[in-house]
Amino acid sequence: MLLGRWHLGLAVLLAVCGGGDGHETGIPTYKHWDAATGQTILCNRCPPGEYLKHHCTSIHPTECVPCPENHYTQYWNYINQCQYCKRFCSELQYVKHECNATHNRVCECSKGYYFYFDFCLKHSACPPGYGVEVEGTPHTNTVCKKCSKGFFSSQTSSIEYCKRHTDCESLGHKLSINGTSWHDNICFPLQNTNLKGITLYEEVLLQFLSRQNSSRHHRVLQLGRKLLGSKNAKHLFKQNSTLSPEMLVFLYVQEWKKKEKYKCLTAERLVDYLRTAGLKRIARKVGRKFIKNRYANIPEDGCNLSLVVD
Ligand SMILES: *[C@@H]1O[C@H](CO)[C@@H](O)[C@H](O)[C@H]1NC(C)=O
Ligand SMILES: *[C@@H]1O[C@H](CO)[C@@H](O)[C@H](O)[C@H]1NC(C)=O
Ligand SMILES: *[C@@H]1O[C@H](CO)[C@@H](O)[C@H](O)[C@H]1NC(C)=O
Ligand SMILES: *[C@@H]1O[C@H](CO)[C@@H](O)[C@H](O)[C@H]1NC(C)=O
Ligand SMILES: *[C@@H]1O[C@H](CO)[C@@H](O)[C@H](O)[C@H]1NC(C)=O
Repeated sequence: MLLGRWHLGLAVLLAVCGGGDGHETGIPTYKHWDAATGQTILCNRCPPGEYLKHHCTSIHPTECVPCPENHYTQYWNYINQCQYCKRFCSELQYVKHECNATHNRVCECSKGYYFYFDFCLKHSACPPGYGVEVEGTPHTNTVCKKCSKGFFSSQTSSIEYCKRHTDCESLGHKLSINGTSWHDNICFPLQNTNLKGITLYEEVLLQFLSRQNSSRHHRVLQLGRKLLGSKNAKHLFKQNSTLSPEMLVFLYVQEWKKKEKYKCLTAERLVDYLRTAGLKRIARKVGRKFIKNRYANIPEDGCNLSLVVD
């Protein structure tokens, strides 16, 4: 009885000291009901990377053992088995940190994707007229914004920012057609583009067409017939049936330029072709934007730079 009480006192003393020590050494503790003494005592927790084998008693400290392979504990704990590491990263993810005794395996979305709940979604692309305001990260989507006055973005892209319109005069060129949010200023002499054999001017003309619902295949084919003749247009249409209407227009115009010995597809020519193809509403729109509102004239031979590329 006396002995029991002494033990009890010791346990409490230990507990208090343990708590005190814990406080000083920074080892966290937990309360445990000790069946042998019938008392609640404070035990040290197990460090990250280990788990609890035996609770402490009034005479033995807590017994901890390391986590087995593929298991971990991240925090000071008194759990009796380690947690199992997440086994796989999904196909749109890569392993950012391997599993070790203190950390779960960390998966991160691959480049161009971000976490959305448990999925990796593709970063949104900003359409023409919109540029990237904030690039996406593995955890956030792209933020797009409309290009402000004097800026443009011509591509559907998740990385392209709005760019300033080219200052034609500073290049010693003339401004022909004002830029918009979706295309650059068009200067004369004309700048080439990445598109084989097509000038920026022609590209903008064609992009304008795509924005006018000429993007539907049958309209593109109508225009192609006028540019290349019925037989050739149909043949190309069949051979390239998987191309988008936009790309098909480019293809027709490239072919047309070859046929015409790299003549320029001027707005005047395009309007003629559109009219004879029965696309009168679009013809009017092209006329308004590219003929009525232009400054410097674009001469017939202005597109000859395509030969350099081809
Ligand atoms: C375990 O992985 C984490 C990252 O997940 C890392 O910070 C830590 O240093 C690693 N520990 C060991 C012992 O390698
Ligand atoms: C073209 O841009 C200039 C300079 O910003 C402006 O003064 C002019 O009004 C614009 N023209 C058209 C047709 O938008
Ligand atoms: C394009 O066509 C669709 C459906 O045919 C129509 O709803 C839309 O208003 C058209 N857009 C333009 C710019 O004509
Ligand atoms: C279109 O079809 C022609 C003829 O088959 C082929 O040579 C060409 O590569 C195609 N163009 C594209 C952009 O797929
Ligand atoms: C285009 O360039 C070629 C080769 O440089 C030249 O022979 C031809 O005369 C030029 N055509 C025009 C319309 O300027």
